[in-house]
Amino acid sequence: MSSSLTILGIAGSLRQASYNRMALRAAQQLVPEDAKIEIFDLQGIPLFNQDQELTPPAIVTDFKRRIRAADAILFATPEYSYNLPGVLKNAIDWASRPYGDNSWNDKPVAIMGASPGLLGTARAQLLLRPLLTFLNMHTVNQPEVMIAKAHEKFDASGNLIDEASKKLIQQLLQNLVDWTRRLAR
Ligand SMILES: Cc1cc2nc3c(=O)[nH]c(=O)nc-3n(C[C@H](O)[C@H](O)[C@H](O)COP(=O)(O)O)c2cc1C
Repeated sequence: MSSSLTILGIAGSLRQASYNRMALRAAQQLVPEDAKIEIFDLQGIPLFNQDQELTPPAIVTDFKRRIRAADAILFATPEYSYNLPGVLKNAIDWASRPYGDNSWNDKPVAIMGASPGLLGTARAQLLLRPLLTFLNMHTVNQPEVMIAKAHEKFDASGNLIDEASKKLIQQLLQNLVDWTRRLAR
């Protein structure tokens, strides 16, 4: 592991003005000095087809390479119908296959989420955690970062303007970095 950690940030939304993409961009500013966050955009990842898992499209191969190259993963998930958006689950499935070639294996991971609703993706995050356990990822437990009423927390340029959310993201990232270094010992 190099002295500076690389965290791969993945937002589960393709929306241009996605609050979760904005949250990832905020995280890039809040990450500890000894780490950096690179963002992988899920735009262009096709629907998973198991017929193609042995010869996946180039974008999936690249996605899997970026996951493997990263020291840790940061998911920013929206909540769709009390669950993860299909876009994120689809991408997670691609990178977990074929059997025996799970790119997520053994990766430290942290999760956060933003929603205009009052629970800030609490239910989606609750369902994401056991999925990450199945993938043999090592999830940071705390703090839980739920950016509720997201439309009030970002300005018109997409900047996070809520100090409490900033502090939580900062703490989550510090814990992810500490966790990653601890697991590598
Ligand atoms: C199909 C669909 C289902 C949704 N279900 C929920 C939900 O269960 N809980 C919630 O807080 N917001 C829900 N929303 C609203 C999303 O939180 C909102 O669209 C949010 O902006 C999506 O994240 P993004 O800004 O990163 O794209 C839903 C939106 C869509 C399109």
